[in-house]
Amino acid sequence: MKLQRMDTLLRQAREKKIALGAFECWDSINIQGIAKASSLTGIPVIFQATPVEYEPMGGAAALVHMVKFYVDKYNINAALHLDHGSTLEQVEDCVRSGFSSVMLDASACEFEENARLSAEAAKIAHAGNLSFEAELGHVIGGDGGDGAESALTVPSEVVEFVKRTQVDCLAVSIGTVHGDYKGKPELRLDLLKEIASLVEEPLVLHGGSGTPIAQLHAAIKLGITKINICTDIHKAFLAGIEEARKTLTPSVPGNFYRPAAQMMTEKTVEMIRLFSTGIPQD
Ligand code: 13P
Repeated sequence: MKLQRMDTLLRQAREKKIALGAFECWDSINIQGIAKASSLTGIPVIFQATPVEYEPMGGAAALVHMVKFYVDKYNINAALHLDHGSTLEQVEDCVRSGFSSVMLDASACEFEENARLSAEAAKIAHAGNLSFEAELGHVIGGDGGDGAESALTVPSEVVEFVKRTQVDCLAVSIGTVHGDYKGKPELRLDLLKEIASLVEEPLVLHGGSGTPIAQLHAAIKLGITKINICTDIHKAFLAGIEEARKTLTPSVPGNFYRPAAQMMTEKTVEMIRLFSTGIPQD
């Protein structure tokens, strides 16, 4: 099965009033787990990785080969997306390597610079027939993250940003954080509602892990169609390793990593189901 543009999958998801999970990839065990989860649920999935994740795998092209192998093996509908690209060179590398979607994240910059860089990256993506995601407002890490200040998306900037950048999917900052929350998550659904009324591009929520499901369901209902997940599936993977350490010897890696694969896959199935069922309708 060919990798599909992410915006195509997201528009189909929106018609069904569901969101798709976009899951971080770091090795072939977890990539296979994500593919299996998509196959078990019958819901398309987005594989994504930042350069920090794919460089140790051998680079962007190595990741493309791995993802395509499992997409074929499980015969699933999927996109492969560059998450948090930080340079135009990374965007070009992913386009050349066969990704089907890219993000350039200049959200820590002021509006003008974010719009300028995002527009340049969008041109590169569109020339290769890839979809493009950018972020307006800035989602930080729960533990302080990249040192930049958290900034909520300003609705009055949204239409101009989309027009200037020609972005296909817009990541918004409405109160989530990457990684663990320090306090109690409280999404600004009022902001999301206003933003969703202004643009018709699919909206993306970064920092999905640890967010109460009722708030995620409310966000999906208002227009979020892609939910980024890393921490929750990585925690499940690490819990599997801890489990293995209790009884198994590291001398047989295949057995040792089996619980990690199993627990991560189960968590991914659970999240795909949460994003596609039980969403309140009007
Ligand atoms: P979490 O680690 O909070 O799930 O965030 C992942 C993310 O947003 C990747 O872009």
